[in-house]
Amino acid sequence: MGQFQDSVALVTGGSSGIGRATALAFAREGARVVVAARGLERGNDTLHEIQAAAGTALFVQADVSRAGDVQKMIQETVTAFGRLDCAFNNAASLEEPFALTADFTEEQFDRSIALNLKSVWLCMQQEIRQMLAQNPPGGVIVNTSSVNGLGGVPQAACYAAAKAGILGLTKSAALEYAQQGIRVNALVPGGFHTPMLDNVFERVSGGDPDARQTVVKRYEAMVALGRIGRPEEAAQAVLWLCSPAASYVTGHSMIVDGGWTAPMR
Ligand SMILES: NC(=O)c1ccc[n+]([C@@H]2O[C@H](COP(=O)([O-])OP(=O)(O)OC[C@H]3O[C@@H](n4cnc5c(N)ncnc54)[C@H](OP(=O)(O)O)[C@@H]3O)[C@@H](O)[C@H]2O)c1
Repeated sequence: MGQFQDSVALVTGGSSGIGRATALAFAREGARVVVAARGLERGNDTLHEIQAAAGTALFVQADVSRAGDVQKMIQETVTAFGRLDCAFNNAASLEEPFALTADFTEEQFDRSIALNLKSVWLCMQQEIRQMLAQNPPGGVIVNTSSVNGLGGVPQAACYAAAKAGILGLTKSAALEYAQQGIRVNALVPGGFHTPMLDNVFERVSGGDPDARQTVVKRYEAMVALGRIGRPEEAAQAVLWLCSPAASYVTGHSMIVDGGWTAPMR
């Protein structure tokens, strides 16, 4: 019997990268998993992969930067599985161009904050309401920040601000709802092999394969463990934070970065 047997776990951005690895890991541990993302094809692929391994899952097509979609996502979760025990608010996208702080347009700023910060708050709002209302009440929330939210990031101020904001949301909610049985923590990833990081490498290297290899090598050299992480390694941290083994952990920002930021802390 898996350690999340009979639990209900929601993973936003569950169709790719860290979210997908976490959805699969929850399902392997017996959770009934709700995978949420905008794109139907990758969402259904993840759903089918879980079902092919005898797991139980539901795919909900939702844009988590839209309040109506988030409300629908929680309603569909509860209709299908009756409650919500673990919520991994992980969806994000890096759409804006790399630009200096003064060069972003107001639209780019608003879009980045909507996709990467407001979305997490919208999810937390609905999840907390559900966790307080259900019987028995309570649950665990993990929000994905980034090492980019710990320090400044030249050419990505909006993304960095959103990821720093997630830490504020996480710690505030952890304090507010601790007595009501809801733990709230943040995953703070370093570099992980996912489509998002691939896209960053592509943009930084201008699509030149040699330049890309140099960029990747330079990146790996900054990491104490000497390599970029596998999404499954981030997933294991999320599962631990959601598990009873972490029953005394709330308001925590768990850095999982292969030691990348250790010299700066
Ligand atoms: N990979 C890294 O090195 C790294 C480092 C630090 C932090 N992170 C953070 O880790 C999280 C996962 O990143 P990843 O690298 O796994 O990215 P990824 O492979 O690009 O996956 C992102 C997922 O989020 C979904 N998504 C994006 N915007 C959404 C929206 N508005 N509504 C619903 N779903 C949305 C995507 O599906 P659709 O596009 O179909 O919606 C996809 O399933 C993100 O919060 C990211 O900022 C990643």
